[in-house]
Amino acid sequence: GRGAYPHYMLKEIYEQPETLANAMRGRLTEADSTAHFGGLNLSAQQLRQIDRVVMTACGTSYHAAMVGEYLFEELARLPVEVEYASELRYRNPPMDRNTVVLALTQSGETADTLAALRESKRMGHTTLAICNAVGSSIAREADGGVYLHAGAEIGVASTKAFTSQVAVLTMLALYLGRTRHLSSTQGQRIIDDLHALPEAVRQALRCHDHVKRVAAKYAHAKNVLYLGRQYLYPVALEGALKLKEISYIHAEGYPAAEMKHGPIALVDPNTPSVFLVPRGSVFDKVMSNMQEIKARGGPVIAIASAGDREVAAVADDVIAIPDVPEYLQPIVTAIPLQLLAYEVALLCGCDVDKPRNLAKSVTVE
Ligand code: M6R
Repeated sequence: GRGAYPHYMLKEIYEQPETLANAMRGRLTEADSTAHFGGLNLSAQQLRQIDRVVMTACGTSYHAAMVGEYLFEELARLPVEVEYASELRYRNPPMDRNTVVLALTQSGETADTLAALRESKRMGHTTLAICNAVGSSIAREADGGVYLHAGAEIGVASTKAFTSQVAVLTMLALYLGRTRHLSSTQGQRIIDDLHALPEAVRQALRCHDHVKRVAAKYAHAKNVLYLGRQYLYPVALEGALKLKEISYIHAEGYPAAEMKHGPIALVDPNTPSVFLVPRGSVFDKVMSNMQEIKARGGPVIAIASAGDREVAAVADDVIAIPDVPEYLQPIVTAIPLQLLAYEVALLCGCDVDKPRNLAKSVTVE
C-alpha cells in the first residue's frame, strides 16, 4: 500500500533514494572497476562486436532512452539511435548484425514496445530489455536484460522507474565503456559517483516545501515550457510530460536553444518556463537562453545548483539541487520536476494516481 502517503505517486517519488540503491546493489565491482549484470546473456565475442545500439520505448521510457543516447556516446563511445517503438515496428531501417536492439519498459507489457522487440528479433538482431516488472512479456522474450528492482510502480505517472532506467543505462554504459576505451581509473570514478547518487537524490527531495510554494504561483498557467540542453534536454521533455499527464496543463519541452526558431513566440507574462540550469559544460549557454526568455517578459523557474547567485539574479524562482557530475544530472533534476507536476496537479484538483484517459500499461496498439 501507500502507507502514510496520500498518493502512490508521492510515495514512489520519495522511494527513489532506495530504488536507485536497489538498481545498483551487487552490480558495481571495485576489483575490475566496472558493472556486472546477471542476465545480459552476451558472450565476450558478442559484446566486443556491438557497434551500434538502437533503443526503443514509449513515453517516459523513451525519455530515459534519450538520456541513454548521451550516456552511451560519452561513456562507451557507441553510436545510438532512439526510436519510438510505435514507429520502429512499422519501419524497416537498415541495421546490420552488430546492431543490438535495446527495449526500455517499466511494465514490460507495452504493446508497441513488445511488437518492436519481436520485429527486431525476427530480423535477426540481438535484443536486450531494461524492465521493471519481473517475468513480464518483454522480459521473457528479450535475449537478455536487466531488471530495475524498483518495486511495483502503481502511479500512472512514471517516476521511480525513470530514474532507475537512467541509473541502469549509466551502468550499462560503464560496462560497455570498460570493454572498450574507459580506463579503470575512469571506471572507478563513475562507480564512486554512482555510490553517492542516492544521497544526492535524498538532498534533492528537500526542495519539496519550496516546490509547493512555486507550484501555487504558477498553477493557473495554461501553457508551460521546459527547457534544457544536452543531458537535460530529455529531462525537459520528461518534465513536460509529467505536468501534461497529471495536471492537464499544456506543456512542451525543448532543447533551450531551439526556442529562437519558433517556440519563443509563445512567451508572454502568463507562460512560465522551467529551465534546467545546474552548473556544467553548457551552463553559460543555458543562462543566455534564459535571459532571452526574461527579456520577452516570460516568468522563469530555474532548477539550479544550490547557492547559484548568477541564476538567482535572473530567474523569478530558483529550486536548488545538489551538485553531481553532469552525466548524473538527469536523475537529480528529475526530482523537482516530478514534485512540481504533483503539486500543480493537486492544486488543480486532479486525480494524480489515475489521470483521465490513461492506463498504467498500454497493452493496445
Ligand atoms: O511500461 P512502459 O515503460 O513501457 O510504459 C511506457 C509509457 O506508456 C509510460 O512511460 C507512460 O508514458 C507514463 N504514463 C509516463 O508517466
